[in-house]
Amino acid sequence: MSAVALIRGRAYIAGEWVATGTHLDVLDPATGERVGRVPRCGAEQARAAVDGACGVFEQWRSLSAIDRAAPLHRMARTMERREEELATLLTREQGKPLAEARGEIRYAASFLTWFAEEARRMYGETVPAPSADGRIFVLRQPVGVGVAITPWNFPCAMVTRKLGPALAAGCPLILKPAEATPLSALALAAIAEEAGIPAGAFSVLTGDRADAADLGDALIGDARVRKLSFTGSTAVGKKLLEASAATVKRVSLELGGNAPFVVLDDADVDAAVAGCLIAKFRNAGQTCVAANRILVQDGIYERFRDALAQAIAALRVGPGLEPGVQIGPLIDRRAFDKVHALVADARDAGARSTVGGGQAEAGGTFFTPTLLEDVSADMRISREEVFGPVAPLTRFGSDAEGMALANGTPAGLIAYLYGRDFSRLVRGYEALEAGMVGVNTGLVSTAEVPFGGWKESGLGREGSRHGLEDWTELKSVTVALD
Ligand code: SIN
Repeated sequence: MSAVALIRGRAYIAGEWVATGTHLDVLDPATGERVGRVPRCGAEQARAAVDGACGVFEQWRSLSAIDRAAPLHRMARTMERREEELATLLTREQGKPLAEARGEIRYAASFLTWFAEEARRMYGETVPAPSADGRIFVLRQPVGVGVAITPWNFPCAMVTRKLGPALAAGCPLILKPAEATPLSALALAAIAEEAGIPAGAFSVLTGDRADAADLGDALIGDARVRKLSFTGSTAVGKKLLEASAATVKRVSLELGGNAPFVVLDDADVDAAVAGCLIAKFRNAGQTCVAANRILVQDGIYERFRDALAQAIAALRVGPGLEPGVQIGPLIDRRAFDKVHALVADARDAGARSTVGGGQAEAGGTFFTPTLLEDVSADMRISREEVFGPVAPLTRFGSDAEGMALANGTPAGLIAYLYGRDFSRLVRGYEALEAGMVGVNTGLVSTAEVPFGGWKESGLGREGSRHGLEDWTELKSVTVALD
């Protein structure tokens, strides 16, 4: 039975646990207490990680799919076995309720299992050639050394959603986790090492916000790195896309959402409220798939609003390790101030907060679950991602008006649609400009779903078989026979 230590205070570079002489403190967002301390890495460590990845690439890619899959399966089993320890660590550095953290560990492990299985299905094609003595084959080969930059809102799942397909396809991966939540990433590195992922195939470079430019330049500027996979804000994603152009890297971006949650007037109110609670309040609203604009049709507006108000008022706020808590703290003061400012701006522009509206009793960065009414499309809160537990309600008349409101932003990650009439739902999901649509559900996230957005919400897909394809290059082989 494995007893490898999960809490690590060193970066993991090319198979070595490395200190750098400078460090960054990791704080519990619920209490402000220090949870751990990790090194600040810079260009030197980035180069060492790329050297290590290049050194192991040939060996790793040459393994059979079954042999690449085996350590991924072992990692997943360890994560499942040590769910409680990983979930507790995750809650301590990220703040989400323990029940959600347990769910995230299972979700994270599921990507490793899924891609371990998909490794064996990295199929190519045989194409009928235009002449009788010609043959055309299309191979899928690993894209090469990859860099992943992951956010703080899902400190484990966003790592494995990139690590799983990278390793399954034969690509070594260098990870830069968010500065707020590096401990879960280092715990995954410890599990990877124990599972037999070879030195260099997975490195974790920890660093502060102030180190991001140094690390970014060293990793993105290195022509040996062939792919970048980023989950985070649209603004940062655009900069990374620009920086990647110099060496024409493959880029996958999973960016901001601004998701519409559309409730048609024939929807089941209880089901729509239950779905809205998940889509809006999971992780205290700090997800890129959070329902950001709740668009409700005239005929059902009052009934839906009243039921939602009651459900929001009943949500329990507090530290994530406390039993029964449903809403944890926001990640830091900056996040809290942003949510506060968006609510204040909406109020100044005529919206009313009929439930909540400010700091919760627990103080700190705890924000009360909030219902905002009379929100219009031109308010900042409709145009920007809230990333907090605030549900802004907007009324609409016809289905066409609802769809126009839903599509009226540059984002297109996900949309939710509630209703009963089959034809209206089909027309609705076909009209929605989004990479993912949840119909009568507030949760679409599973390893099987191609996760990714349209428009300014990103490029590429994670999860599903498409997630593996994103880590491969196509090579056509044209053969002339004698
Ligand atoms: C995210 O917020 O970036 C991911 C959410 C999910 O996978 O459900």
